[in-house]
Amino acid sequence: MKPVKVGLLGLGTVGCGVVNVVARNASEIRRRAGRGIDIVSASARNLARRRECELSGIELTTDPSIIINDPEIQVVLELIGGIEPARTLVLGAVENRKHVVTANKALIALHGNEIFARASEKGVTVAFEAAVGGGIPIIKAIREALSGNTIEWLAGIINGTGNFILTEMRDKGRDFADVLAEAQRLGYAEADPTFDVEGIDAAHKLTILASIAFGIPLQFDRVYTEGITRITAKDVRNAAELGYRIKHLGIARRQGEGIELRVHPALIPHRRLLANVDGVMNAVLVRGDAVGPTLYYGPGAGAEPTASAVVADLVDVTRDLTVDPTNRVPHLAFQPDALVDLPVLPISQAISAYYLHLRAFDRPGVLADITRILGERKISIEAVLQPQPEEGAKDASIVILTAPVRESHIDEAITAIQSLDALTVPLTRIRVETLK
Ligand code: HSE
Repeated sequence: MKPVKVGLLGLGTVGCGVVNVVARNASEIRRRAGRGIDIVSASARNLARRRECELSGIELTTDPSIIINDPEIQVVLELIGGIEPARTLVLGAVENRKHVVTANKALIALHGNEIFARASEKGVTVAFEAAVGGGIPIIKAIREALSGNTIEWLAGIINGTGNFILTEMRDKGRDFADVLAEAQRLGYAEADPTFDVEGIDAAHKLTILASIAFGIPLQFDRVYTEGITRITAKDVRNAAELGYRIKHLGIARRQGEGIELRVHPALIPHRRLLANVDGVMNAVLVRGDAVGPTLYYGPGAGAEPTASAVVADLVDVTRDLTVDPTNRVPHLAFQPDALVDLPVLPISQAISAYYLHLRAFDRPGVLADITRILGERKISIEAVLQPQPEEGAKDASIVILTAPVRESHIDEAITAIQSLDALTVPLTRIRVETLK
């Protein structure tokens, strides 16, 4: 059979990684797909830039519309990133009945519902394995390998930059801003690092995971999102003293008739495998009712790990070319007419344990006032830590771990604690996830 003709949009780090992997593994890819995969054309804004990939034999252009309108091209690879022009180009390719492979998490999280509906109408596939967890085959695992399960919850470290920052803060006692600057120098961070450190990138990825896990539409605007910018070296130390590590997690969980969707820092017991995922690595823990807990670990970014996922999609899409569209794996794991609108619960209804860090004047009765406020609201205390005050400090640190409680109850307790005149600075609250 003739090779499949692929047009590539975007020759950045990942685009070049894909060109290299497709060339290096051409014979293995052919053995798997049943035919060759040829990248015949590629577009980039600046063709003069020096690149770490061999582009001879690929027709180059600065105009991506030439590729999406080329009748010879069967598959379009979108590796531009961001919303526009990526959205218009992907929809244009679909309109021309071309299959699409994309690594664009923001595009899928925000516009996936529209893109998949259009793709289904046109009988083409839009594949997006590389959008979550880089090289980890997490989309395929949840969508296909766990399809015998009712997924109960998943929790993941799905932003490598945030994990690198928290790991350095813990290992070297460094401050947040200092480590962020290094992550940017090393090229881990997104073009706009607020996407990484404010949790937006993780929320894009969680939106996608939750949708394929529970069979719900993509709902990025319903994800509760909190970043890591307020985590201090002191919180990291306190957590360690209590036997925990602070990680930035994306959590999707069934609760009653609804779904919790939340991205935020969390203390995890240090023995949990997820607590030991360090540096830029990613991992996702998925709990299915039949299989129990399963863990997927690997590089969440980088040229070749991301290319690994993109090329796997290319192989799948190549096989799909000869499959009746109604028999293909559905984009969001469940048949489009079987997606259900389970309500996404407001964060006030989430259930979690809490780490509370207070600074208060060191005088009798302060701890008693705090425990009374918690007790009155039936919030049970699991541990208390009062580190030795620093030399000459006018106030003392108090750290409290609570038992799991509804977020609205801890909010009430925190308001009452904040109103105590003994507090010298606003209280810090970080959720605690035991991942049981
Ligand atoms: N900025 C992302 C991260 C890259 O740090 O994980 C991969 O999506």
